[in-house]
Amino acid sequence: MSTATALKEETAVSLQTICTKADLVEFSGVAAWIETEQGPAQVAIFFLPDRDTELYAIDHRDPFSGANVIARGIVGDIKGEPVVASPVYKQHFRLEDGQCVEDESVKLRTWPVHFDGDKVVIEV
Ligand code: FES
Repeated sequence: MSTATALKEETAVSLQTICTKADLVEFSGVAAWIETEQGPAQVAIFFLPDRDTELYAIDHRDPFSGANVIARGIVGDIKGEPVVASPVYKQHFRLEDGQCVEDESVKLRTWPVHFDGDKVVIEV
């Protein structure tokens, strides 16, 4: 099984450039496509330039409505943690780890994301 193991390691992390800093909207979100092991997925990228962690990548799909809307949600703060409110039913999701504030059983996927110069790079 050494071949399978090697393959798995190779695909474990892929760095994908999704956009540039100029494509981002301060204190708001933009949507982008990424390739995951489960296939293409829509991700919402939030840019909060006043935070130690400026960039967040979280599922764009709202699990409560099934709509791809999270990037259009309003960004806020609950107990010092940055959150986005779904524009549909207004649930809040923590940008850090995707946890739904009102429903412990619901968690969005999140991915590490960073600037590389002007590029926005996500680790999938
Ligand atoms: S915020 Fe109400 S269910 Fe998550």
